[in-house]
Formats: sequence, C-alpha cells, structure tokens
Amino acid sequence: MLRLGVNIDHVATIRNARGTPWPDPVRAAELAEKAGADGITAHLREDRRHISDADIDRLMAALNLPLNLEMAATAEMQAIALRHRPHAVCIVPEKREERTTEGGLDVAANQEFLADFIAPLRKAGCRVSLFIGHEQDQVEAAARIGAAVVELHTGAYCDLDTEGRLAERDLELEALRRAAAQAHLLGLEVHAGHGLTFDTVGPVAAIPELRELNIGHFLIAESVFLGLGPAIREMRRRMDAARG
Ligand code: PXP
Repeated sequence: MLRLGVNIDHVATIRNARGTPWPDPVRAAELAEKAGADGITAHLREDRRHISDADIDRLMAALNLPLNLEMAATAEMQAIALRHRPHAVCIVPEKREERTTEGGLDVAANQEFLADFIAPLRKAGCRVSLFIGHEQDQVEAAARIGAAVVELHTGAYCDLDTEGRLAERDLELEALRRAAAQAHLLGLEVHAGHGLTFDTVGPVAAIPELRELNIGHFLIAESVFLGLGPAIREMRRRMDAARG
C-alpha cells in the first residue's frame, strides 16, 4: 500500500496573496479526504508564508485523516508540535530566502542535536520523519538517532526531468532506489516527496520500499484546471498503476 499525503500549503499561499479567508486550506483538506487522500501534510514555516498557526489549530480540530506537520528543528516549532501532538512530524531544513525546501537535512553532521530534538516528540507519540537526500551516510544517521521514517527528497529528480536531462535524471532515480532499499533494511519506513507531478510520479511510486508520497504544489496547480478532487484522483490512479 502506497499512501498519498496531500500537502495543502499552497492553498494558503493563494489565500495569503489577498489576505482573504479564502481559499481555505481546511476545506481543501476535507475535499482531499473525500478524493482519497490518506493523510494531510502542512508545513508551518518560521516566516508563516503560507500555513498559519490558526490553520494548524483548525486542521487538528477538523481532520479525520492523520496530519503530517512539516517543520524546522527550532524550539518554537517543537513547542507547537508538542502542544498539538500530530500523527507525524517531518523535520525539514529551512532557509528564509529559499522559495521551497531546497535540500535534505544534514542528519550526519547534526546527530546529537537532532537526536535530542526528536526525543520529546517521539515520547509524545509523534511519528518522527526526517527529510533527507539519498546519501548513504544520511540514511544511516537517521536510523542511528531513532527516527521512525525518512522522507527522500525527490526535487532533484523532478527538476532534471523538467529540464530534459534524462541521463542525469535516471542516475538520480537510481540513487533514490538505493536509498529506499538501504533505509528499509535499516528498519526505517520510507516516504518520498517534493516536486512530483503526473509525469514524474510513476517511477518513484514503483520503488517497492516506499510507503507514502507527499505531494502538494503540482496538485494545487492542477486543480485550477481539473479541480482538486479530480487532480488527486488522477495522481492516485497513476500511483496505483505504477505499483501494478
Ligand atoms: N515533502 C516535504 C518534506 C516537503 O517539504 C514538501 C514541500 O513542502 C513536499 C513533500 C511537497 O512538495 P511539493 O509541494 O513540491 O509537491
């Protein structure tokens, strides 16, 4: 079973462009559930550029699906996660000047800090996920510090596909496959996400160790043309087809 987590951040991006209450990310989450999403993902960034604290309050109150809260490893975010105790917490690197999460966490270089950071979250019952690249030492470090899950960053694979650099794309995909197999062997649950589209999802979904994909920007973009429900159903169909 390959779960689909729908990331609703960019519903909030559109809302915040005008400062209106609409479009409402909670309504999008409810619609995503009806369309077959298995979970909802929301990234509370330090600068609150899309999802707000109030959105997290409302999502926690309204959702039937598990919430995967993406956040940076800061004391403020840790306190928020401990207050809400979402199903999952995905720790991501964050830079204020970036447009989106550009790379994975350097778990290997920050093992002690991250082990201490995730300990209270684990104790509170959250499934802790670390967003990493496909490097072997990062996968090993994630297992060593006691994460339950690693989410592999698929952004580079997707960018190479968009740019038509197909030989490099295939190498990147192969590295993702190796990392998924390695993480699974080490007892980690393996997720993947970032930048996935109808065109790029198939080869990633076909990686047998993967248990969840988290997809946002493309689904929200495509919903302008198809509607959110049909866009999610089409993504789900492509994931299932790839699993064969
Ligand atoms: N997974 C993680 C850890 C992310 O940070 C993001 C982006 O917020 C996604 C998945 C979804 O990426 P996209 O919006 O490009 O589908």
